[in-house]
Amino acid sequence: MAACLRFLLICLVTCVARATDDPLASAIGHAKAHPQGDVPASFVAADYRGDLRDLPIGVFDSGVGGLTVLEALKAHDRHHNVTGADGADGVPDFAGERFVYFGDQANMPYGNYSAVGRTDFLRELILRDALFLLGRRQARGDKPPVKAIVIACNTATAYGLEDLRAAVKAWGIPVIVVGVVEAGAQGLAETAEGAQGGVAVLATVGTCASNAYPKAIAKVTGRPVRQLGSASLAAAIEGDPSVKTPIRDIIRADVGAFLKSAAADDAAPIDTLMLGCTHYPLVADEIAAAFAYWREQSDASGRKPYATLVAPKLKQVNPAAWTAESLWRSLRGAQMMAVARPKGGDQFFLSVANPAWKGVGLAADGTLTYEYKYGRSPGQVGREDTLNVPMTAEALPGATAGLVRERLPLTWRSLQGAR
Ligand code: DGL
Repeated sequence: MAACLRFLLICLVTCVARATDDPLASAIGHAKAHPQGDVPASFVAADYRGDLRDLPIGVFDSGVGGLTVLEALKAHDRHHNVTGADGADGVPDFAGERFVYFGDQANMPYGNYSAVGRTDFLRELILRDALFLLGRRQARGDKPPVKAIVIACNTATAYGLEDLRAAVKAWGIPVIVVGVVEAGAQGLAETAEGAQGGVAVLATVGTCASNAYPKAIAKVTGRPVRQLGSASLAAAIEGDPSVKTPIRDIIRADVGAFLKSAAADDAAPIDTLMLGCTHYPLVADEIAAAFAYWREQSDASGRKPYATLVAPKLKQVNPAAWTAESLWRSLRGAQMMAVARPKGGDQFFLSVANPAWKGVGLAADGTLTYEYKYGRSPGQVGREDTLNVPMTAEALPGATAGLVRERLPLTWRSLQGAR
């Protein structure tokens, strides 16, 4: 009898330990234990009991790549704003809304956590991102809570969408959560325009490892899918100074290696590219140019090994527009579109390393060292080794600011006017 009780006790202790090690369980428990929103990674529970319609929409990514999704949200016009009927009316569908954007730049690239066996820590980061958006924050004015969260990051959607939906349910808050991967698959199904060939999914190494895209695409079409995971392209676009190779060369090398392995496997000819990383629409032209370059290359025998593997004109699918549509449908369906004119403009935040945090590993330029960043384990949702500060256009590295200014005009304008 005593042995039996001891066994049951051990099982119970083990279960509790597992539950608290689990990022989802600890994030749920942490926020529930702090309903006043008075500690990091918590929110004011009472904020979610009233009318949420005039709260802003939260959007987050691992860095500035999610601004491509914000641009799509701001440009989206597929409906009549009053009746909701299908068809553009010349007024953006989210014209009455405002946005809070957060880029977890200090902890990116998210796409590399899976390769070092840290997906549980990544899941904790994703829940922390959402908790930042849910809470009120005092930084450049008062950051309000949000009524919806768009996970504008493919890697974060792949590893965190289900967690976040489960957390929102457990917290009992009517916050809408939308991700980008299923929207991308939907976009592929809707924009095939007769294309029936292979689909190349360009994404981070982590998104590829999750197989989120092949699974989502298989639900909407039987087209063959092949994945190209890049370990450094997103960081290069972000302006990470540790990436020395020029963006064009990274893309060309990644595409070359991808085509080489596809040709060796006798893969189906590719006619569609899925831009499965939020950073990639910023370099969509360069990606198209790299495929065109390799298509024309000859080998030693004068043969063009990729001429039949790559279609002369590739279609590109950017999940952002379908993410916007998915958000619109969810908000409209829940009768949560804003009713008052938005007060104030959009707000933008980025994370930075916190030198005051005990034991933090800092590089000479003040960013987290690779060893520190990728050596962390979950279990401390409220840790503050990074701080979230207002993002300004001036603080973006020159090349990144240039890409945003040139290719995301609506977002750039909003960023200029941010408080
Ligand atoms: N923005 C992320 C995505 O869409 C990739 C960047 C990263 O690795 O952090 O997957």
